[in-house]
Amino acid sequence: MDLKFRRSQLAMAGFCMFLLSVFAQANGPITPLPFSIDVNPRKAELGEKLFFETRLSKDGTISCASCHNLEWGSGTDLKPVSVGVDGQRGERNAPTVINSVFNFTQFWDGRAETLIEQALEPVVNPIEMGMESWDDAIDNIKKDDFYKSSFDIVYGGKMTAENVADAIAEFQKTLISTNSPFDQFLRGNSRAITENQKRGYQLFQAYGCVACHQGQNVGGNMFQKFGVLKDISLQAGTLGRDLGRFNVTGNQWDKRVFKVPSLRLAVKTPPYFHDGSVATIDEAVDIMIQFQLGREVPEADKSAIVDFLSTLVGEIPEGAL
Ligand code: HEC
Ligand code: HEC
Repeated sequence: MDLKFRRSQLAMAGFCMFLLSVFAQANGPITPLPFSIDVNPRKAELGEKLFFETRLSKDGTISCASCHNLEWGSGTDLKPVSVGVDGQRGERNAPTVINSVFNFTQFWDGRAETLIEQALEPVVNPIEMGMESWDDAIDNIKKDDFYKSSFDIVYGGKMTAENVADAIAEFQKTLISTNSPFDQFLRGNSRAITENQKRGYQLFQAYGCVACHQGQNVGGNMFQKFGVLKDISLQAGTLGRDLGRFNVTGNQWDKRVFKVPSLRLAVKTPPYFHDGSVATIDEAVDIMIQFQLGREVPEADKSAIVDFLSTLVGEIPEGAL
């Protein structure tokens, strides 16, 4: 590529990052998660049952919880890519469902606007739960007395795809990991995190991670290119293959653009990135430093940043116990 063009492109990217970080600072770069949010308890209770319901899959083997395991409070399967019906593998890593309610859109490419819209997909996705149609899924649960009476009470007897998705979405709103050591620190307890972790937070801001990973979910509130300062397809492996948001919008500038993921549970949810191809958090941070920030960073700084990331893990949500 022409050097002059490359330089002006870099300058442009640098300027955008500067604007982003100014914006982030003005709003306080990271804010605590609320202790709870408004939830309709009856819908959530029904939604919990549906979240674990394998009858929503074509061969009765897979539920939402198969790929979003709530044990250990991770909300994911900890596999590079998930395994659906008939042992089929997808191409993307399953993000955690915990704190997903705080994301501005759902999926790596943001193709679902809401949790309700999101929940309509996996049941009829041929490589996930594999149902031919939502009607078949509803038929499977219709005969169950629990569902019959629950839908009577909660949805006036209307057992529809939209209402199943609505109930599951309501349950997922209860899956929030609050009161992390870092949130305690933000709320004024200066001893909630160690000196090294405080240094890690300073570096997270100073190096510019916070320009993209910010807000209450430390991510989940914007789209960004993967490979801002260095082309990600130069990295060995599969990371450059998925065109991300481009598949949704068809816009050239959306190539390899992804939703910036929340880092709230990052230390608990390996492997990393949209294709789960990176095994450890240290490697993931290393790739971020190279490709998003175009820098070199001393080892001690990297490990302080990872140490800071571990303070973002909150209490295991009740529904997940
Ligand atoms: C076979 C595994 C599998 C099953 C079953 C499954 N998911 Fe997922 N889930 C994934 C993968 C993989 C992604 C990411 C896909 C993408 O971004 O294109 C995902 C994404 C999500 C997201 C978006 C999170 C975010 O931060 O963007 C939510 C929420 C979610 N799933 C909830 C559910 C619910 C609810 C069900 C059941 C109705 C379900 N999933 C069933 C694997 C699965
Ligand atoms: C220009 C925006 C931007 C900057 C700056 C940035 N990131 Fe990211 N980060 C992203 C995007 C986008 C992804 C998702 C990449 C993908 O998988 O497609 C991501 C993914 C991650 C992941 C993997 C999360 C997961 O669950 O897979 C970690 C960890 C991470 N970033 C940490 C950092 C750290 C630490 C810094 C600073 C050293 C940083 N990021 C700087 C945009 C950014």
